[in-house]
Amino acid sequence: MSKKGHSNNYFGSYRDFWWNQEFLELTANRLELSKYCNMLDVGCGQGHWTRILSPFLAPESSVTAIDNDVNWFKNNNELENYFNLSKIDFKLAKGDAENIPFEDETFDFVTCQTVLIHLKNPKKALKEMIRVLKKDGLLLCVEPNNIVQTLTKDSMSTNESIDERLDHIKYRLIIEKGKKELGEGDNSLGDLLPGWFAQESLQDIQVRLSDKAIAMYPPYSTNEQIATLKQWMKGSAWKSETRKDIDYFNAAGEEFMRFYFEYQEKYETRSDHIMGAVQREQYHAAGGSLLYLVSGIK
Ligand SMILES: C[S@@+](CC[C@H](N)C(=O)[O-])C[C@H]1O[C@@H](n2cnc3c(N)ncnc32)[C@H](O)[C@@H]1O
Repeated sequence: MSKKGHSNNYFGSYRDFWWNQEFLELTANRLELSKYCNMLDVGCGQGHWTRILSPFLAPESSVTAIDNDVNWFKNNNELENYFNLSKIDFKLAKGDAENIPFEDETFDFVTCQTVLIHLKNPKKALKEMIRVLKKDGLLLCVEPNNIVQTLTKDSMSTNESIDERLDHIKYRLIIEKGKKELGEGDNSLGDLLPGWFAQESLQDIQVRLSDKAIAMYPPYSTNEQIATLKQWMKGSAWKSETRKDIDYFNAAGEEFMRFYFEYQEKYETRSDHIMGAVQREQYHAAGGSLLYLVSGIK
């Protein structure tokens, strides 16, 4: 298949290290996942989230996963094989999050992970997820604020001036704006989800943050550090597979183009410096991020 699937670059093994197992167990207990037996995962991709959650469901449960990218709703052999070997009844189907191809009140548990941030109409998707949820069913959306990572320090940025830190934040904010203008979603909408859940009259809204941080420090030898470094080699976690930063700046507005070129000139070698520092075993960072788990009952 020539065209890579949506988010293909982000499905490396590093994604398997996104969660602490004890945290998942705690969350599953708090949300009483073992009560639910009919789950829908919206925007499943390669199924990392589908696989992580399914063991916590009631025995003999059924799991449905949808995606609108042909690479993921078809020929997703690894995911299908995984469920073939389990006792869980599994269906993988083509489906648009903004127009979910199921009847009202089909599932007792509906979830998504890092999907709403990619959608033009995330509120429409939210309404759709609630529509296909049974009364008393659980909705769980896991979505980040991605701008926060620009504020966290690492061993390189700690010596930067306030203006330099602000440059990096401004650069990322403009990219987020451009992404929204292009109808490709809001990278930091996790902050807004609890309010949206309340607007949709969901009950017992609970908001948590993942307790996972992937700290980087020499000699970068843990499995999660190795997987994360491998991911960095492919390009920063911010890079789109289909667009260059300049495309987002263009979409954000002409008034930002001057800043784009000034930034490129000033920080041209920045990412090389970071990789150089890793090679010299001088780079370190706590690796925190802000990944919300927002849940509510219909
Ligand atoms: C960052 S990936 C997350 C995949 C998976 N949820 C996980 O956490 O591993 C985003 C996924 O959303 C899917 N997606 C994007 N827009 C969609 C839409 N309108 N309807 C259904 N899926 C969509 C993409 O194809 C991709 O698989």
